Amino acid sequence: MFLLEDGERAELWNRLIERIERYFRSVPELRVSPPLDRERILESLKAFDFRNGKSPLEALDFAADQLERYQVHAPHPCYFGLFNPAPTAMGIAADTLVAAFNPQLAAWSHNPFASEVEAHLIRAMGARFGYDPQTADGVFTAGGAEANHTALLTALASRFPEFREHGIHGLARKPSFYLSVDGHDSMIKAARLCGLGTEAARRIPVAGDLKIDPRALAGAIESDRRSGRAPFLVVATAGSTGAGIVDPHEPIAEICARENLWFHSDAAYGGAAVLLDELKDEYRGIGRADSITFDTHKWLSIPMAAGMYLTRHSNALIDTFRVAADYMPQDASGMQVTDPFTHSIQWSRRFIGLKVFLSLAVHGWKGYETIIRRQVALGNYLRECLRSAEWTIVNDTPLPVVCFVDSFRSESAGFAAEIVRRVIASGKAWISTALLGGEKTAIRACINNFRTSREDVETLVEALNKAREETETARN
Ligand SMILES: Cc1ncc(COP(=O)(O)O)c(C=O)c1O
Repeated sequence: MFLLEDGERAELWNRLIERIERYFRSVPELRVSPPLDRERILESLKAFDFRNGKSPLEALDFAADQLERYQVHAPHPCYFGLFNPAPTAMGIAADTLVAAFNPQLAAWSHNPFASEVEAHLIRAMGARFGYDPQTADGVFTAGGAEANHTALLTALASRFPEFREHGIHGLARKPSFYLSVDGHDSMIKAARLCGLGTEAARRIPVAGDLKIDPRALAGAIESDRRSGRAPFLVVATAGSTGAGIVDPHEPIAEICARENLWFHSDAAYGGAAVLLDELKDEYRGIGRADSITFDTHKWLSIPMAAGMYLTRHSNALIDTFRVAADYMPQDASGMQVTDPFTHSIQWSRRFIGLKVFLSLAVHGWKGYETIIRRQVALGNYLRECLRSAEWTIVNDTPLPVVCFVDSFRSESAGFAAEIVRRVIASGKAWISTALLGGEKTAIRACINNFRTSREDVETLVEALNKAREETETARN
């Protein structure tokens, strides 16, 4: 029953492909953002009390129609938003295949091909960051938050061997770790989940360039040591969420080496730019990180959810996560292989790596380099257009994350928020605001979509200029 009748199933697959195709062809014509009409959505769900079954096509069309109507269209070329990309066609095909074959990535012997594909990708991606493929290890995660959580756990297990058995209560001194004021809040959540509490996370101020200030970092570590705490980890961000800023990895690596701290780089977004030779300098020192978070579902355009935790220590994950589970298959116990569940927060896990594997298999590193280079150039074009329309750029990064304020109202957070509201309401583009260095609000536009062109950038700037005019008129 659940597989439907043969004819019905064939119709379903055809309609599915038709709806996906239609979406990708029509998305540039849609409003980028939906009406936030909760009442109508709830009304539409009333037809689903699950007492009587609907036809497969009716149910599928309902879902596709509502998704088309009620989502911010990240695949739209004028989505200048958070790091959500348009997905690759190969990624969509891979995820469909994975749903059908439904591999379970807990026991290696259940899915030797899937497990080895992921291990192959971990080595390949690790090498791009400068890790030795012989010793690099890692795991696919649901996203950056899970990868950061994994980093916190591996750092705790590495620096406090007693943590695994006795947890935080077994530690003689209170642990603390360090990240910039602009570091991602998933680290704060992870601090709660690990039982450290948020006070263990020490926010370090940024300098005028919005990068973590290494002297302030060293000072905070020293002061914590003096007051009896146990510093154990520093998190550098490679591509901050708000402003695309890459913290200085080399000086942070030095501090970590001197202080014997675990060094984690949160490269969830910006990690993709290590593929460009011309940006290598920006990332100098990232290969010294003990672990790296990298989200392929951001700049590599892989459909969600596809994060990665990478480490240069072959035992870090096993030492943190291995547990004995008698009921798990033992078929491969004589082989030199790793059961994925001994390696990760998740137990039974989806085959996340296939969408990365098939996208890379078809487009190769070269294809990605071309797209990323084009997006970096479009970021520069956006800066140029904004400057000539009297907007002032307030972040300095080679990545295509552009933060700006109106040249004559640079201090007004309310003005920036009003501009963003109007641009979104116009349906022409999606942008947001960002709080930089913990204090200054700017308008933020990020080029993360491989379909975005110079014309789309111009559409955004026109929408911004119009929103500014309207805001000024409304205020006068
Ligand atoms: C720098 C950084 N780290 C971590 C995350 C969390 O990633 P995810 O949403 O994939 O869990 C984000 C999300 O934007 C991010 O920008």
